[in-house]
Amino acid sequence: MAENPYGAVNPPIVRSSTFSYPTAGEGARRFQVAGGAAGEPGLFYSRMDNPTVAALEEHLAKLEGGEACVATASGMGAIFAALMGHLKPGSRIVADPCVYGCTHTLLDKLAKWGVQVVRCDTSDPAALAAAIGRKVDVVFIETPMNPTLRLVDLKGAAKMTHAAGGLLMVDNTFCTPAAQKPLALGADLVIHSLTKGINGHSDLLAGAVIGPAKLVRSAWDWRKDAGAVLDADTAWHVLRGAQTLEVRTTRANASALAVAQALAAEGVRTSHPLLPNHPDHKLAKAQMPAGCCVLTLDLESEKAAHRFLDRLTLVARAVSLGGYESLASHPWSTTHSALPEPARRSAGITPGLIRLSCGIEPLEAIMADVLGALERRPAMRMGAKAPKGTATLTMKARRA
Ligand SMILES: Cc1ncc(COP(=O)(O)O)c(C=O)c1O
Repeated sequence: MAENPYGAVNPPIVRSSTFSYPTAGEGARRFQVAGGAAGEPGLFYSRMDNPTVAALEEHLAKLEGGEACVATASGMGAIFAALMGHLKPGSRIVADPCVYGCTHTLLDKLAKWGVQVVRCDTSDPAALAAAIGRKVDVVFIETPMNPTLRLVDLKGAAKMTHAAGGLLMVDNTFCTPAAQKPLALGADLVIHSLTKGINGHSDLLAGAVIGPAKLVRSAWDWRKDAGAVLDADTAWHVLRGAQTLEVRTTRANASALAVAQALAAEGVRTSHPLLPNHPDHKLAKAQMPAGCCVLTLDLESEKAAHRFLDRLTLVARAVSLGGYESLASHPWSTTHSALPEPARRSAGITPGLIRLSCGIEPLEAIMADVLGALERRPAMRMGAKAPKGTATLTMKARRA
């Protein structure tokens, strides 16, 4: 990317929808090079390429260690562009039933267009191998999975996928490149909902596909024709959010682990990949040692889960994750409600499951809110006099 004009330390926001060219011949040349590497002077129309969007794409490619990136209007736009770019009627795709709800329903839609969708527990290597079989086109992985937080061994999945002639696509939204780099572990394409941790401020929607230029180019082509394009202003804001990714992630991930430890110490069924009793703990330590900002707790029923959510005073009752603010959601009745009940249950999404995304508020504040919302203790507000026994627990939790 060329240096910014005026020596500006931040790139300008280039809002122009169209770009003039000095000669007709140069116009013809630009049409040929559009969608090339970031910074290629092929500008002619912002649905194809835009300098501010290109600045973001270049930054994201570097973060993930990829050659190229295409930024899209949302995470679903990125998943759509990546899948459409590499599937056709008759193609086989393997995915877990436990993926983000709209990814699941998008795959259902693709099945109606002649794509063979094979669902399996991708955290189980034997099940994954059986589902891939001898020939596959795409294996689509979320690790950690949304919302059960089970992991997939990326190196193993890449090996199996490549042996069957397919591409491994990894939705790295939960970890972000601050904690996990799927391309270095053998993935072919990495996908992001930038709406989450990379932007980190819950104030926009965006997505990205990252990987080798040749593979990203197919997603670029679909972005162009489907119009799933990111605008310059939004791209600039994502770039600003991404500058603080590392520090935000470090703090939020540490808080998530501490809250999970405190809940576990309270006897609550809690899951976080870095808890020693997590079924994929060993893999988590090798594959995503920096953790993630999401944990889950499983209460006994949907009613208990709703009551827990309604008692929160600091943590917002909202879907999404990876923001500077803590958010809690109930996948059963919101993000994953479109899945039939048996599919939800077999994917490990129970009626009592709560997904909690830790933000960067002081840990004591998050801890007091979450522990205070548990059934057994009166709700505790920050600054309010702690009920008897709570202080001891909070201290214990802080040490954990
Ligand atoms: C793991 C994951 N992938 C993709 C998406 C879709 O992202 P967006 O809402 O930006 O379209 C989400 C949204 O929650 C998600 O959690």
